[in-house]
Amino acid sequence: AQKSATLTVHTDQGKEIIPKEIYGQFAEHLGSCIYGGLWVGENSDIPNIKGYRTDVFNALKDLSVPVLRWPGGCFADEYHWMDGIGPKANRPKMVNNNWGGTIEDNSFGTHEFLNLCEMLGCEPYISGNVGSGTVEELAKWVEYMTSDGDSPMANLRRKNGRDQAWKVKFLGVGNESWGCGGSMRPEYYADLYRRYSTYCRDYDGNRLYKIASGASDYDYNWTDVLMKQVGHRMHGLSLHYYTVTGWSGSKTSATQFNKDDFYWTMGKCLEVEDVIKKHCAIMDKYDKDKKIALLLDEWGTWWDEEPGTIRGHLYQQNTLRDAFVASLSLDVFHKYTDRLKMANIAQVVNVLQSMILTKGKDIVLTPSYYVFKMYKVHQDATDLPIELNCEQKSVRDNRTVPLVSATASKNKDGVVHISLSNVDTDNEQEITINLPNVNAKKAVGEILSSANLTDHNSFEKPNTVKPAPFKEVKINKGTLKVKLPAKSIVTLELQ
Ligand code: AHR
Repeated sequence: AQKSATLTVHTDQGKEIIPKEIYGQFAEHLGSCIYGGLWVGENSDIPNIKGYRTDVFNALKDLSVPVLRWPGGCFADEYHWMDGIGPKANRPKMVNNNWGGTIEDNSFGTHEFLNLCEMLGCEPYISGNVGSGTVEELAKWVEYMTSDGDSPMANLRRKNGRDQAWKVKFLGVGNESWGCGGSMRPEYYADLYRRYSTYCRDYDGNRLYKIASGASDYDYNWTDVLMKQVGHRMHGLSLHYYTVTGWSGSKTSATQFNKDDFYWTMGKCLEVEDVIKKHCAIMDKYDKDKKIALLLDEWGTWWDEEPGTIRGHLYQQNTLRDAFVASLSLDVFHKYTDRLKMANIAQVVNVLQSMILTKGKDIVLTPSYYVFKMYKVHQDATDLPIELNCEQKSVRDNRTVPLVSATASKNKDGVVHISLSNVDTDNEQEITINLPNVNAKKAVGEILSSANLTDHNSFEKPNTVKPAPFKEVKINKGTLKVKLPAKSIVTLELQ
């Protein structure tokens, strides 16, 4: 059957820029995100550029990754950066206690990470150790990375082969300090934040953007206490929100699910909007001018690990359902960019809702990767106000899911892009798009869909879910009629 919806896009309005950092990524020393994912080392027979996998590097370059968060996650609060510098043969090993007890050989450290960011042209986001590290250790790390003077840490960096300081903007002062980052109460963490951040200095023209460890999804008290006790000493406050069935027991299969599960997932991922709104309302109470940013520095789906993979490595497949979580979440994030200045999907390679999966020499780009690619036109564009009327569906756990999701933006050259998701698993949607004061002549685009919701890209069949040109657009007197097939995601460019 065919359904219909209407969308009005106000192309002559719009105030907020969608910061490119909304399209941020996260890389943790977890499973094969770093080793085997981003990094294979220069002596590997897997093609690499100075140790970075060539195929992964090129795929990330194509995605225009704006910011990469590292080294964790939970790993960050047990990471001692000095173990990851200097000659590799001398670097001590450690046990990755959070993630399967894997032995970490520290061959990927500060130089390897910051050089990668330079090569990708993205901002590094360093997550500092507050849980088990000292103030001195964090202060010295900042000096090592960013000081250009005749200072002890800058000289150590020079000795290790890097003359010029890197530019490091984003600095996280701890991660999940209420949990794996130290099991702290917000009042105690607020004081620690004040103490640690005092000694993280701005060296030689580098300006740190300091981020306090924020709440997990529904913990509004954490945000309240941090806003009250830390306030403008932080540039940003983080937030984590996962689309997960729960934290105990099975998180259910990434690839085996039914329509009911699909709709439940849409409801859960869309609940991020309510969560963002509530955290923003608390922040507004203390910071009316919105000087302090909210940074959703971990988000995405969290399913059971793929059968047969190492426990604790969080390796999961990625289906068309995950692609919808990506598109619907990004549509939500675009609406709150007056406060929400960054989002980092967890994680970039081989972990949770990843962009890329690798196995030996092989690589697979996931459906989520393709959403990020189709949506990259929105990076740094002006968010355009929209009005959308469509059918709503009641789903499990008393949630309601609109069957169409949309977002629109205008880039620096005045080009308008519209992204549309038809969440309806069975019905085509005819969408009438009104564009007041615009006379669109042509719209071209791409569509991401597949025969089944559970379809995914495997190493055997890497091209099951991938974008194709989209032609189902008719224009009549400036009004667009778009036929969106069931379970499809489209991005259009108006010409
Ligand atoms: O992304 C996986 C983990 O989820 C991170 O290490 C931690 O911060 C969160 O609990």
